Amino acid sequence: MASERLGMAALTWMALCLAAAFAVDRSNFKTCEQSSFCKRQRSVKPGSSPYRALLESLQLSQDSMKLQLVNEVNKVPLLLELYGLQGNMTRIKINELSPLRPRYEVPDVLVRDPPTTWLAVMGRDENSVELSLGDSGHKLILTGKPFRMDLLQGRELVLSINPRGLLHFEHLRHRKDSEEPKESALEGGAAGEETEPAVPGEQESSEKSTKSEEVSDEPDRAEEELGSWEETFKTHTDSKPNGPTSVGLDFSLPGFEHVYGIPEHADNLRLRTTEGGDPYRLYNLDVFQYELYNPMALYGSVPLLLAHNTQRTLGIFWLNAAETWVDISSNTAGKTLFGKMLDYMQGGGETPQTDVRWMSESGIIDVFLLLGPAPTDVFRQYTALTGTQALPPLFAVAYHQSRWNYNDEEDVAAVDDGFDTNDIPYDVIWLDIEHTDGKRYFTWDPNKFPQPRNMLGRLAAKRRKMVSIVDPHIKVDSGYRVHNEIRSRGFYVKTKDGSDYEGWCWPGSSGYPDFTNPEMRAWWASMFSYDQYEASMENLYIWNDMNEPSVFNGPEVTMYKDALHQGGWEHRDLHNLYGFYVQMATAQGLEQRSGGLERPFVLSRAFFAGSQRYGAVWTGDNAAEWDHMKISIPMCLSLALTGISFCGADVGGFFKSPDAELLVRWYQVGAYQPFYRTHAHLDTVRREPWLFGEENKALIRAAIRQRYALLPYWYTTFYHSYRSGQPVMRPLWVEYPDDVTTFSIDDQFLIGNALLVHPVTEQGAHGVQVYLPGKGQVWYDVHSHQKHHAPQTLYVPVILSSIPVYQRGGSIVPRKERVRRSSDCMYRDPYTLYVALSPQGTAEGELFIDDGHTYNFESKAQYLHRHFSFASNTLTARSADSKGIFESPAWIERVVILGAGKPAAVFLRQPGMAETRLDFQHEPETSVLTLRKPGVNIGADWSISLR
Ligand code: GLC
Repeated sequence: MASERLGMAALTWMALCLAAAFAVDRSNFKTCEQSSFCKRQRSVKPGSSPYRALLESLQLSQDSMKLQLVNEVNKVPLLLELYGLQGNMTRIKINELSPLRPRYEVPDVLVRDPPTTWLAVMGRDENSVELSLGDSGHKLILTGKPFRMDLLQGRELVLSINPRGLLHFEHLRHRKDSEEPKESALEGGAAGEETEPAVPGEQESSEKSTKSEEVSDEPDRAEEELGSWEETFKTHTDSKPNGPTSVGLDFSLPGFEHVYGIPEHADNLRLRTTEGGDPYRLYNLDVFQYELYNPMALYGSVPLLLAHNTQRTLGIFWLNAAETWVDISSNTAGKTLFGKMLDYMQGGGETPQTDVRWMSESGIIDVFLLLGPAPTDVFRQYTALTGTQALPPLFAVAYHQSRWNYNDEEDVAAVDDGFDTNDIPYDVIWLDIEHTDGKRYFTWDPNKFPQPRNMLGRLAAKRRKMVSIVDPHIKVDSGYRVHNEIRSRGFYVKTKDGSDYEGWCWPGSSGYPDFTNPEMRAWWASMFSYDQYEASMENLYIWNDMNEPSVFNGPEVTMYKDALHQGGWEHRDLHNLYGFYVQMATAQGLEQRSGGLERPFVLSRAFFAGSQRYGAVWTGDNAAEWDHMKISIPMCLSLALTGISFCGADVGGFFKSPDAELLVRWYQVGAYQPFYRTHAHLDTVRREPWLFGEENKALIRAAIRQRYALLPYWYTTFYHSYRSGQPVMRPLWVEYPDDVTTFSIDDQFLIGNALLVHPVTEQGAHGVQVYLPGKGQVWYDVHSHQKHHAPQTLYVPVILSSIPVYQRGGSIVPRKERVRRSSDCMYRDPYTLYVALSPQGTAEGELFIDDGHTYNFESKAQYLHRHFSFASNTLTARSADSKGIFESPAWIERVVILGAGKPAAVFLRQPGMAETRLDFQHEPETSVLTLRKPGVNIGADWSISLR
């Protein structure tokens, strides 16, 4: 019977898959109104906060402040902890003072206990305390009643916490109609006594609290009605043994009109206000045929919001892994630009302000305020907490060829050869679920892939790689070793009744390993060793999909919230962490199989804060539509702002088949996004680059070659991201923080700080409007080398081959311009330096080189980090970091100086050697000076002077 039901569910899912119209079935996913805790939280209206801070309970240690809050309606005491953190951050935790049982606190996301700084009480009166937060120059004013906190720098209010009084903390309780004793917090006793006020105004307060005790049943009854102890959505009932457990809090950001982050949503870069609609939802879900421009949840979540204005950037990191909704409102939302100008001219109008409200289903309030003040500071702060982008192996930054599915070994060989015949570089070919023996991961279909080792060997001989898919749902099949081991070790997620949880996914009935269990993760990691994963070799890497987790017959296509994980935690508490752990365990496996030497590559669909440490992500099942291509830019930019730089979208679109124009344009867009992979649904027509005629093939080839030429720059930018936490792909405002024109731009972006890209994303486009930022700066078209002054909006005529890309005057970009089969084949190839001069005749740039695949750059300092600078007509190469030592066979074959006059002579000087003259060529129309064959090794110190 049960299996029959499962079968039906799968059929329904399949039917959905085949449905012709491309649109999400919204009825499969909850609105805030249908998510009982969101509805309860949202029903708390501003201005009626029941919370009071008991100032007399304040305890101050060197680095933290503790204080009790009491809900004057139900008397439940909360504990507020405040930490000043080094590097201009503050952490605020709110939990119940004595919960019935522990509440979930997110583990494994922070890379360490954040180092604290000192706190001091600077002053107090009967209703407030003023604290100084370390050396940062920030202070915090905590008001007792109604409870709020205001964070100031000097006399400027930076942000307020609970200013609208929306703190709402649902304490753990026994069910009223159960036999169990009444909850301790309401019984008086120690906790109750602590809530007795002993401050001025005592009498009034105690009177009030007595009154409120009388009405303390009111909210509970309302909560019962609102699905606190049980909630049904469609055919699924969520038993809620712990009752209502949600937490919510609001923040005000005076002076801010632009907020960003909280991926993943298929929406613009700049977040919208959510008044009159649903909040942005963070709940990792497999959303079939997702729609654009709405706040619905998608595959991953990063609960980090950034706010930016011309003076300051700050971040709010809400460390909670349960289902979360974020409301955004603003006092300028409805105003036109004219209205705002009128306010300004009349000297009236309020200061613009954005209000943000976070609501999570369980856990505690644990929030980090990242106080900037510059965008770079916020990135540094956030990545100090959650880690930086892992440095990918070089091949992973190159081009990937995927589809669901490459059918068999012959197909793989033919596609692989196709790239050679057509002279198109590529690094990795991917195998989707059909390569396995009946969707049993870690196995190979014996008919289609009888000799996987030979196939991998053949690829390796061409210095190419393969990625195979390993999903986290495990076929329930007593003949399948992986299933048997997980089951016998007790590693599956359990139902609320303690049996192994089973759901429906690609293989049919499947178990879901409990990746939150470190023992399970260690076992999973061991499965990637060469003797466990049959036929696997050094050039096989991994793709984790469906790790939200996707459960076709589950509520909202995912796992029941009352399913149980290790330690007795409900799935509800940690849902958004599941995919993070899957990728973590897989990356660990790839690392271990090489004895810790090789860097892993793992692609994941689901993610959470910190996922950047384990590999790449992509934006899931998009469609071959122009708008889907366009939205890939803000989607990856939002991820980049929240730590996850290694992002891409399925080039060509997953569902449906692109026409040649869209495919060509998508190859061009993808060439300039961090993760560059084509991928397509099983039912789509084949779309290898040579299947669209000679002309289109040439255009696709040109786009891919542009990617390969720039690999040294991409890799250096990734290295920088790994070291300093700065995003690889950046919105313009990150580099031009005081130029308001940049604040809403999301159809163009920067790679590092030197390249500006405005890909063509309109069908039939004849031109694009490119905004070139930077007062007094210049930009050079990387193709024509034409110079443009900034700031300006430039109309650029385009044809099908155009990819508008500009190099900033003042930057130096290294390239490798010889065409090869794969990135590995380029290892010894010489470099060309593109020196783009600023109006002052200066430029700077860097280059990072290592072996491209091991951890030796870290453990043995085997790397070269070079610095190039141009000033006073001299280009100088020196080490940017003398710790790194590495021998590279590569040399410099050319230097191209953009914006240069014609010198009389050019001389190369190397330490201890006689000066030599260099050949050069100067083009007066474009002011391009090309220096031929400096011939110096890339690791050498030298200088070239123009005289
Ligand atoms: C999911 C993935 C998609 C993959 C398919 C089959 O839909 O998002 O990329 O091809 O599953 O594994």
